[in-house]
Amino acid sequence: MSTPKTPVAAVDPAPGADIGAVTATEPADALGDAFAAEYSIRPIPAPGPVDTAPISTTPAAVEELDALWKAVVHETRTRGNDIHLPISLAFAERLCRAYPDADADLVRVATLLHDTGWAHVDESRIISEGFAGDWRKAAIRYEHELQGCNVARRVLPGLGYSAEFVERVCEIIDGHDTRPVARSLEDALMRDADRLWRFDQAGIALASSWFGMDPATYTDRLATEIVPELITQAAADMAEADLSRSNALLKTAVIR
Ligand SMILES: [Fe+2]
Ligand SMILES: [Fe+2]
Repeated sequence: MSTPKTPVAAVDPAPGADIGAVTATEPADALGDAFAAEYSIRPIPAPGPVDTAPISTTPAAVEELDALWKAVVHETRTRGNDIHLPISLAFAERLCRAYPDADADLVRVATLLHDTGWAHVDESRIISEGFAGDWRKAAIRYEHELQGCNVARRVLPGLGYSAEFVERVCEIIDGHDTRPVARSLEDALMRDADRLWRFDQAGIALASSWFGMDPATYTDRLATEIVPELITQAAADMAEADLSRSNALLKTAVIR
C-alpha cells in the first residue's frame, strides 16, 4: 500500500498537517504478509455487487447497531466523528455486500468504533503531535487506537457481544492508523470505509476545512494519494464515482 505524503492522509486530518511517509523500516508483519499472499490481486476484485451511487442513497441500515450508537454518543462529538463515523459505516455496509465472505458484523462494529478513542485523548495534542513528522508513529495516534479499544471493551459486552468478538474488533481498531498493512479482509474493508467517506461531498466539506485547503486542491489529492491506497476494487470504484460527482458539483475544474 502506498503511503500518504501530504495532509490528505487516509486517516483523520488536521489543519496544516505535515505528514511523513512510512519508511521501509517497518517491522515484518506475519499476519499482514499472510493476508497479502491470500489476496494477491490488488485492488481485491469484488465477488458481490458494487453500488457506486451516492452514499446518501444507502444510509447505514442495520438497526441492531442503534444501541451501540447510543452507547458512544459522547465519543462522536470529537473531531467530526458524528459525520465521519456514520458515513464510514454506510460505506462499510456497502463493502460487505461486495465482499460477502467478510464477517460483516465485525466490519460494521469495528468501523463504527474505530475512531471513538479520539474523545479520550488530549485534543490539543491531536494537531501538535498527531500530524507532525512521521504521523503514523506519533504517540497520540497510538493513544487514540488504544482508547478506541478501551471504548469497545467498555460498551460491547453489555450489548451482548462475546469476549472473543470484542477482541477481534480491537485487533482491527488497534493499528488502523499506525500499522501500514491490513491483516484480514475485515481489516481491509474497515480501512477502505475509513477512506471512502472523504470522497462524498460531506467528507470533502469537512476534511478540506480541517486541512485549510480549498476543495480543488483537496480533491486533487484524494485522486493522487488516497485512491492508490484503497485495498479493494469495490472501494476504488466507489471512490472514482464519488470523486467525479463531487468535482462536478463543486466545480473544482473552474474554481481553482
Ligand atoms: Fe483513526
Ligand atoms: Fe477514521
